[in-house]
Amino acid sequence: MVNVPRCLVRGSINVDEYFDVKDIARPGETISSHGLAKRAGGKGANQAVAVAKAGGQADFVGAVGEDGLWTLDHLSEHGVNIAGSERVSELTGRALIQVAEDGENSIILFKGANYAKLPKKPIHPLTTHLLLQNEISLDESLFYLSEAASLSLVTIFNPSPMPTTEELKSFPWYQLTWLIVNEGEAADMYRILISRTNAEQETDVQAYTEIPAYSITRKLLSQMPTTNVVCTLGGRGVLALLPSLRDSGGLPEPIYLPAAKLDKGVVDTTGAGDCFAGYMAAGLMNLQQEKGTKLLSKQDVIAVMTRCVQAAGLCVQKPGAMASIPLGTEVDIETV
Ligand code: ADP
Ligand code: NA
Repeated sequence: MVNVPRCLVRGSINVDEYFDVKDIARPGETISSHGLAKRAGGKGANQAVAVAKAGGQADFVGAVGEDGLWTLDHLSEHGVNIAGSERVSELTGRALIQVAEDGENSIILFKGANYAKLPKKPIHPLTTHLLLQNEISLDESLFYLSEAASLSLVTIFNPSPMPTTEELKSFPWYQLTWLIVNEGEAADMYRILISRTNAEQETDVQAYTEIPAYSITRKLLSQMPTTNVVCTLGGRGVLALLPSLRDSGGLPEPIYLPAAKLDKGVVDTTGAGDCFAGYMAAGLMNLQQEKGTKLLSKQDVIAVMTRCVQAAGLCVQKPGAMASIPLGTEVDIETV
């Protein structure tokens, strides 16, 4: 009997405050807001909720101050296990978001408790997957990544916001099973990483040129030769390149899925990337449980990403980030 997979999410949790304004405040200006909403947010929290909503067991390890205890309760209500999270003396991480009438926004992010030093605890023995973002101290993420790799867990990293040049250049890619980036991040990362060595002589790839971002993702893969690279393409869907999947010419064979067809049109894309990453982790967990192995076929990856694309498609049709992440049951109705 295989144990139920468990995903450790070591990441950020914030109080997000949305101020509805006519226009974004200019320097020196005082404006009034005609609406204020307070919601739990942060990429770590969003992705943990996405794992749970997708049907996976998510163990969230993060930190809040007294002022943000309710955000942890909120995660708990969504089925996330928060037992490993800490209350610290710092204020909870906070995002002040002005949302203008034309949809434009402006955000002030206070890291607060997300950068608090937490006691380093061993990973729960039943953990099978690790999911990381980049809204906490990178040292902290690297500690968990190295622990997880030494336990041969599946590790997933969504490097948003983008680490610094130095951080990227020294990143231990060999410890990472899956990288999830959007197209802009893929291009930024490649530009930084390629300057590490000039050895790689890039020849133009004629094959697969019809697939957006194929070339950039392939180059990124060349910089992390044991990591599966997933590049989300917004309204154009997603592209994955796996080191193990090559065509007869030795080029990485793309797995490309178009975005979900939207009945309602785009309402709010906030959180779509987090929804995708959490569903990806949950899908990989599911497969591992079903098959009893970490080895994936092309069909397996297509099946996992199809559900991610459906989920992210539902997410962009609803306002909000965490609140717009659909339940697995809602996603599965869509796909029947
Ligand atoms: P991020 O939010 O991290 O920038 P993307 O914009 O690539 O990431 O979006 C993540 C996923 O959300 C995409 O792969 C896609 O499945 C879905 N998505 C995003 N925007 C749209 C859209 N306009 N229409 C349909 N799906 C979308
Ligand atoms: Na949304």
